[in-house]
Amino acid sequence: MNRGLRFCSTARCVPERIVTNDEMSRIVETSDEWIRSRTGIGQRHFSRGETAVDLCVGAGRLALERAGAAPDEVAVCVVATCTPDYASPSDACLVQAALGLPEDTPSFDVSAGCTGFLYGLETVRGLLALAEGKKKYALLIGCDQLSRILDMTDRSTCVLFGDGAGAAVVCLEDRLWHAALGSRGTAAPLWLNGPGPETTYIHMDGPAVYRFAVEALPSCVQDLLAKSGLTLDDIDWIVPHQANRRIIETAAKRLHAPLDKFYQNMVRYGNTSAASVPIALDEMAEQGLLARGQKIVTVAFGAGLTWGGALFEW
Ligand code: UT7
Repeated sequence: MNRGLRFCSTARCVPERIVTNDEMSRIVETSDEWIRSRTGIGQRHFSRGETAVDLCVGAGRLALERAGAAPDEVAVCVVATCTPDYASPSDACLVQAALGLPEDTPSFDVSAGCTGFLYGLETVRGLLALAEGKKKYALLIGCDQLSRILDMTDRSTCVLFGDGAGAAVVCLEDRLWHAALGSRGTAAPLWLNGPGPETTYIHMDGPAVYRFAVEALPSCVQDLLAKSGLTLDDIDWIVPHQANRRIIETAAKRLHAPLDKFYQNMVRYGNTSAASVPIALDEMAEQGLLARGQKIVTVAFGAGLTWGGALFEW
């Protein structure tokens, strides 16, 4: 048995404003039919006035409340993001202040694109071990506000992404936990320029990222199964990064896994980058789909090209 993380609570916060595919088709030459059939996305939330920190604070506050975690019981506050409000300070420092976390709470951002939440889980697992039980909880938030940096003249990227934050309060226990993290170390198919004099935009060679994703997703799941000695039959849910329904369908085929084992919600949010996995977990918890003792695999991929996964018991 490893020192693993237990999810004490989850929460999410998305901007109020919903932008439908039909609205996108008034901005660029696209259609609801194209977006749905090529990606599975039906709508997304775009911020109007909310900052990224506002979204983080909304999700983080609710997650702390649901866990019954007092501010002085939080050992570390981490935000996974590639779209922070400032290049510096981190979103996490501003979240720390807004949530009243005391000054001895290390607070910082993790940057691993859409894989950020998975990198964040391993980061807080290590820091909780170093805290040696003096403080019980870690607050981990995945948040991205990609609407700010979308090129609204590029139909191949602007229809894909949405804004949101998902949070989890986790604690360390002797329990099942396996993780796999990696990176190809390349900017080529997916990068955000800035900070600097250039206007920040997301640039993506969609088909190249697609090819990477349909390889990385199943191989990360297989890696986790091999590490744990479990088979797919032992796994109750696979919670993948919500980039594209076709990526998930291809991964399911390659793994010979039934598609209904994969939770999907990109129809409501689009690709929310680092927020996609915690938003999915929070929806699943809300819908009563998660029960203690169930075995979960969560897996993501993104800029870097990074990938990451975790296998654990809910
Ligand atoms: O979170 C990680 C980051 N991102 C991803 O995971 C995205 C991974 N990639 C993808 O999901 C897919 O590659 C896309 C959804 C981005 C694109 O799907 P695709 O099936 O790979 O399409 P494509 O780029 O090969 O384009 C096919 C056609 C092109 O037209 P022509 O050249 O065949 O005439 C595009 O110009 O579809 C066209 N197209 C569109 N048409 C209508 C591209 N975007 C759109 C659009 N509406 N929004």
